[in-house]
Amino acid sequence: MTRLDRRRMLQLMAAGSAGLALARPGARAAQAPEESLAALAAKRGLIFGSAVSTPQLDDPAYLGLVRQECAAVVAENAQKMYAILPEPEAWDFGGADALAEFAARNGLDLRGHALLWNHPDYLPDWVMETEFGTAAAAEDFLRGYIGRVAGRYAPQIYAWDVVNETLDPETGELRDTPFTKALGPQVIDIAFDAAKAAAPGAKLAYNDYMSWEDGHETHRTAVLRLLERLLAQDAPVTGLGIQGHARWTDREAEFSPARQKAWRGFLDEVTGMGLDLYVTELDVNDGDATGPDAVRDAEIAAYTKDYLGLMLDYPQTKEVLTWGLADHDSWIQAFVDEGELVRRPLPFDDEYRPKPMREAMAAAFRAAPQRS
Ligand code: G3I
Repeated sequence: MTRLDRRRMLQLMAAGSAGLALARPGARAAQAPEESLAALAAKRGLIFGSAVSTPQLDDPAYLGLVRQECAAVVAENAQKMYAILPEPEAWDFGGADALAEFAARNGLDLRGHALLWNHPDYLPDWVMETEFGTAAAAEDFLRGYIGRVAGRYAPQIYAWDVVNETLDPETGELRDTPFTKALGPQVIDIAFDAAKAAAPGAKLAYNDYMSWEDGHETHRTAVLRLLERLLAQDAPVTGLGIQGHARWTDREAEFSPARQKAWRGFLDEVTGMGLDLYVTELDVNDGDATGPDAVRDAEIAAYTKDYLGLMLDYPQTKEVLTWGLADHDSWIQAFVDEGELVRRPLPFDDEYRPKPMREAMAAAFRAAPQRS
C-alpha cells in the first residue's frame, strides 16, 4: 500500500464512511496511546496543544489526531495579518473562523497567533509599502486592526501572541517596518494596549525564537530589555512565548550543560519579572543529523525529554504547543533540499503513528511538578 493509499484509508476511517469496511477492526483504537498528551499535561495543570493549518481542516484523519491528543489549537497561519488583511479593506476571516468553529465544536481551547508580526517579510506587502505620514495614523490603523481581530474571537481565544518576533536577533533592535518608522518602540505598547482592550480576559504574550544556542545572547538580552520596558510602563503582558524550534545536530551540541545554564539564567530573569512562560511552537529540525530514522528518532526524543524537563521545572511554564503534530505537514519540510533526508520534527509520523518524541513528551508531562 502506498503512503497516499494508506493516508486515504485513515481519512475514510476517521470520516466513518464506507472506508471502515476496508479497515482492520480496532486498528485505530489499537494505535491510540493510553492517555492523551492533553490529559497527561492537564494532570499537572498544563495545557497541551498544537498548531493547525487551514488545509489540515480538510483532513479528517489529521483532525482525529488533534482531537485525540490536544486540549488547545492555534492557527499556523490563518490569523496572521497577511492572511486576514491581504489587501487594504479586503478582510478575510475564512481560515481563522474555520479553526475557531472546529475548536468550539470539539471543546478545544483556542490560542491566538499573532496580532502583530512586526517583521518586513511577514507583514502584507501593501502594509510594507504604506507610509503612515503621522504617528496618529499608524496608531489608528493598528488599534483598529487589533481591536477587530482580537474582538472577533473574544472571549474564545484564551491567550494571544500579541507581538511576534519583532527583535532583530543580530542587533537586538526593533525590526524596521512602517509601524516602527511611524511609532518607534511605542508600537509594541500600543499593540498590547489594544489587545487588552479587545480581549480583556486573555493572556497576552510576547513571542519569539531566542534560544539557548550560542549566538543567541544578543537576542536573549534584547527580549529581556523589551519585557522590562513593557512592565515598567504597565503594559498588560502576562508572559513570554518561547517558540522552542530546535535546530538539532546532536544532543550534546544542541542542549549542552553550558547552554542549559545560559538558558536557565535567561528564564530566571523572565520569571523573576513575574511573567509566565509558554512553549508555543515546539519542534525539532533534525536537518543536520544522519543515520536511520530509528536512531534520529531516539536522539530527538532524548533531546525533547531534556528540553521539556528543564522548561517544566519552572512552575511558570503553563502551556506546551507543538508546531503541528505529524512530520510530513511540518513547515520545516519546505526547507528540505533535493537529496536531503525528510525531517522528523514532530511527535507523530506521516501515517499518524506515535514516535519516540511523543513518548518523551508524555514522560516529561508525567514527571513535571504540579502547577496551579
Ligand atoms: O498560501 C500560499 C499558497 O497560496 C501558495 O500556493 C503557497 C506556495 O508556496 O504558499 C502559501 O503560503 C505559504 C504559507 O506558509 C501557507 O502554507 C507561505 O508561502 C509560507 O511563507 C508560509 O509559511 C509559514 C511561515 O510561518 C510564514 O508565515 C509557515 O507555514 C508557518 O509554519 C510559519 O510559522 C512561524 C510562526 O508563525 C512564527 N514562528 C516561526 C514559525 C516557523 O517559521
